[in-house]
Order: sequence, then C-alpha cells, then structure tokens
Amino acid sequence: MHEVKDRFRESMSRLATGVTIVMTEMDGRPWGLTVSACCSLSMEPPLILVSLATKAASTQAIINNDRFSVSILAEDQIEAAKSGAKPGTPKFFEHFVETQDGFNYEVKNALATIHCKVENTIPAGDHTIFIGLVKNVVLGESKSPLLHFNRQFGAFNTSVKS
Ligand SMILES: Cc1cc2nc3c(=O)[nH]c(=O)nc-3n(C[C@H](O)[C@H](O)[C@H](O)COP(=O)(O)O)c2cc1C
Repeated sequence: MHEVKDRFRESMSRLATGVTIVMTEMDGRPWGLTVSACCSLSMEPPLILVSLATKAASTQAIINNDRFSVSILAEDQIEAAKSGAKPGTPKFFEHFVETQDGFNYEVKNALATIHCKVENTIPAGDHTIFIGLVKNVVLGESKSPLLHFNRQFGAFNTSVKS
C-alpha cells in the first residue's frame, strides 16, 4: 500500500495545475492558503470545488466564516504562492491583499477572484471538500497563469506545436 501511495503522490506531481490562493478571515484579518485542488463544478447554479486538508487552520476558519474566496494567480505571483504554502506558519495575507469587496478578500493583481458562500462540505479521507456557491467574480488583467508541475512553479508556454 505504501508503494501505491508513493506512486500516487508521484503521479499527481506530473499533473500540471494552476495555482490559487483560497482566502478567508482569521481573527478579523485576511488569511490565505495555496491550493491547486480547485475546479469548476456547475454553472447553474455557479458552483466551485476546493479540497483542503482537514487539519489545516484554514479549513476550520472557512467552516466558521461560511465563506471563502479563490484568487487565481498570475505567473509573477510566486511569492504569494510560497507564502500560502508554508506548513504550520500563520498565513496572514495583508501584504498581498488590495481590496475587500464587503464579502471577502482578494489577492491583488490576481487573474481573477471568485467569492463564495459555503454551499456544502464533504469529508474525503484526510481532506474536506468545500463546494462554494459563487456570489461574485472580480476579473483582473488577462495575463499568463502561474503553474505548478513536478514540485516546481513555472509559466505557461504557448509555443507547443500540434
Ligand atoms: C502548488 C501547491 C498546491 C497545493 N494545493 C493544496 C490543496 O489543493 N489543498 C491543500 O489542502 N493543500 C494544498 N497545498 C499545501 C498547502 O498550501 C500547505 O500544506 C499549507 O502549508 C498548509 O497550511 P498549514 O500548515 O498552516 O495548515 C498546496 C501547496 C502547493 C505549493
């Protein structure tokens, strides 16, 4: 079983993903966690899914607040991605937050921020799946995304030939 888990972990490192910061509020301050397990779930109604480690401080905060936002990072936002991924350290995010739309926070200069109310939570192994009902979307400048692949951050290369 150990081997399966190791190969599973390795296999998922070969799946290139976008990088998001899932934000919520902690002690009245913005708090951000780096997350790649994020996808669109439904358009009618608009629903988004994120999967967070149940033991992460962010998970309990989102349950308490009943809301979260998802900022999709651009290629020049590695610093925010690294800050939101430091295990066991406070993830207060004032440094990266520009605005608050009255509903939740957003990472400044993100490609887009999706503001959600928690619609449902589903326990899944050592993670908790959050389904968010999309209440507002703020679109930033259309720039290149930050990607994560093989345990490294990188940029999107558009020059692939078919
Ligand atoms: C690119 C990247 C993607 C990540 N995706 C997720 C994810 O989808 N869900 C999750 O729970 N943690 C994810 N993490 C890990 C968390 O960001 C990391 O474990 C964080 O430090 C947890 O915070 P805590 O230790 O304060 O609880 C990701 C980390 C990186 C670098």
